[in-house]
Amino acid sequence: MKSIKALAPATVANVSCGFDIFGFAVEAPADEVIITLSDEPGVVIKQITGDGGRLPLEASRNTAGVCLEAFLQSIGSEKGAEVVLHKKLPLGSGMGSSAASSAAALVAINHLYDNPLSREQLLPFAMEAERIACGSAHADNVAPSLLGGFVLIRGYAPLDVTRIPTPPNLYCTLVHPHLELKTEDSRRVLKASIPMKDAITQWGNIAGLVVGLMKPDYGLIMRSLHDVVAEPIRSTLIPGFEVIKAESLKNGALGCGISGSGPTIFSLSTEYSIAEQVGKAIQAQFTSMKLESDVFVSKINDVGARIVNN
Ligand code: HSE
Repeated sequence: MKSIKALAPATVANVSCGFDIFGFAVEAPADEVIITLSDEPGVVIKQITGDGGRLPLEASRNTAGVCLEAFLQSIGSEKGAEVVLHKKLPLGSGMGSSAASSAAALVAINHLYDNPLSREQLLPFAMEAERIACGSAHADNVAPSLLGGFVLIRGYAPLDVTRIPTPPNLYCTLVHPHLELKTEDSRRVLKASIPMKDAITQWGNIAGLVVGLMKPDYGLIMRSLHDVVAEPIRSTLIPGFEVIKAESLKNGALGCGISGSGPTIFSLSTEYSIAEQVGKAIQAQFTSMKLESDVFVSKINDVGARIVNN
């Protein structure tokens, strides 16, 4: 039977000011999914590695399984699929772990059927899987993991997604402390409404970041990487956040914030060496709090999920 392997990358959602509307893909880490078509209808998850036995093997409760079932149904296939998932993204990290598994599974199955659907058409399946994973069908991890690049979700109803061009000299540092934060929990702490004053600050920063990326204008990017909506509340869930942010800026980063719903910290820099130095500085802070952490430095990944040779 035909079999294929796909990789889908980690993503930084929100990018400080753009709660639920901005996200970009990085080079690593990336989840790996191997799909084999089968004559038996339905989706069977054969094996998951790298999750410490925590993810459900039952397809209807697993993000990759849910996506595959919805895909097969939508194209009217009578075949089924067997899945092997190698988790490389930590769970509950704020790096888009559930999204990467969904994106890899969808790109793989679509390829096995000779790509009947575009990447954009695969998005709603992955969004529904996000709802299963955390109770909210947000697209700011699944869209960049599927499409690559820096993505704006202009609207959700109807879904309107577009890529924002980014300058060549933009490097992302991700530092993942070995702590777990469930997206569901870090969404629950947010307030249901925001004061007009904060809304004005936030939409100024959102527009500023888009213009800054497109021009490019690094000063404008720097001034725009601020969040007065989610970060003030969520940062209380991340030990030492204020010091970490100050250290990151002191070491030359353009900006620093919470990756998605946290606890991973992201930072953007104009040079690889600065991005590495920022990673070391953030890691040193976590170490001083007796927290282990992993550092990933990469450019923005323009490709997103991709098929790899077995
Ligand atoms: N926009 C989502 C949130 C991303 O911040 O809750 C979750 O990774």
